[in-house]
Amino acid sequence: MQKKIYKAHILYTKEPGRFEVIENGYVAVGADGRVTGVSADLASLDSEDAEVTDFGDRLLIPAMNDLHVHAPQYRNQGIAMDLELLPWLQQYTFPEEMKFADTGYAERMYRRFVRDLWRFGTMRACVFATIHTESTRLLMRLFQEAGMGALVGKVAMNRNCPPGLMESVDEMVKGYEEVIKESSSLPLSPSTLQPLVRPIVTPRFVPSCTPEMLRACGELAAKFQLPVQSHLSENKDEIAWVQELEPESTSYGDAYDRYGLFGQTPTVMAHCVWTEGEELELMKRRGVVVAHCPTSNFNVASGMAPIRQFLDEGLRVGLGSDISGGHDLSIFRMMVYAIQVSKMHYQQNHERSFLTLSEAFWLATKSAGSFFGRVGSFEPGYEFDALVIDDADLNHDNYSLLQRLERYIYLGDDRQIEHRFCRGKAIECII
Ligand code: GUN
Ligand code: FE
Repeated sequence: MQKKIYKAHILYTKEPGRFEVIENGYVAVGADGRVTGVSADLASLDSEDAEVTDFGDRLLIPAMNDLHVHAPQYRNQGIAMDLELLPWLQQYTFPEEMKFADTGYAERMYRRFVRDLWRFGTMRACVFATIHTESTRLLMRLFQEAGMGALVGKVAMNRNCPPGLMESVDEMVKGYEEVIKESSSLPLSPSTLQPLVRPIVTPRFVPSCTPEMLRACGELAAKFQLPVQSHLSENKDEIAWVQELEPESTSYGDAYDRYGLFGQTPTVMAHCVWTEGEELELMKRRGVVVAHCPTSNFNVASGMAPIRQFLDEGLRVGLGSDISGGHDLSIFRMMVYAIQVSKMHYQQNHERSFLTLSEAFWLATKSAGSFFGRVGSFEPGYEFDALVIDDADLNHDNYSLLQRLERYIYLGDDRQIEHRFCRGKAIECII
């Protein structure tokens, strides 16, 4: 890749408490796709041989990261909002996921899903697929074709679900080995020696996995040094069920920890609506990351995750759309929901302040991005994942740059995203 310099109004968050704002600034990107410098002064950057692109009055911001989303639930987006988690899974979610035994159906749905992530400016995602190995490999290839980063999870399940969504432990392990092969056949990036698309060990949640299945998942993560994703403490009935299924566990988190699925390798847990006490302490000790999915928590009537408390306690947190528990694929809109949830907490208890815009932006960019490597900021060394926003239609009066970004986050959508970059490469929608 050639060295590049991009000129625009640059906004990003190095730290949660404030935005970095550079009016008419420059970001320099090296041949390896990493940022080499960011400045208001072109002369201070290594611009020799670099191609300069001027985006004029547009905003240049880090791209979005979705820390929790179910690709095979895309058809169910925006429907089936009348049940809580456990019956919702049985009635709506499992029947849809069973269809992914058919790779033709999977291709139709997964193409649409990847294209729409691209549309909304999400360049990296932690994705649940289904138990089906072939469809999971297909999803990995689609991300790779698009040039977008993803951790893709073949879902492990062998109890409390329809027979069409169960696999034996041996079949699961064999399937994972194929998925790992798929990933190691992908080209490595010269900058990180990591492919953009990688597998992630994905036990659906404790009620879907026998102890043998959980143990096999932990062994796979350890053997292949793979990250782990699952669901944690989303719903009160779920938590009570986990206690029945794993009576020796001292918390839901402990039920994963016993099998090596709680921070032994990089781990992200979705929801954590009811996480407290020992479970919270264990997450802190193990460095387990929270994927906060506010729209899902409302739709499935799960509750409101205490994100301000998690941040005060030093937990790592990112945002997730959780389609189709969540109805909205836009991570910008997820920032708005996260702020609104924190304001509802604040109404109940003024001891903790609500999230600010810079904190929500940081959660979606630098904080969530850290799960994928050095992603989510424009500091030197970060992979250049970026969006160019043409907000002319929203910028109809003398708004400051920060107000323009705020209006885009609250009011904008895919129509204002003019260019997208992942790991330094412009990503055109080819899907
Ligand atoms: N817990 C186990 N599976 C799921 C799922 O598909 N969606 C949500 N929101 N929670 C889950
Ligand atoms: Fe989920």
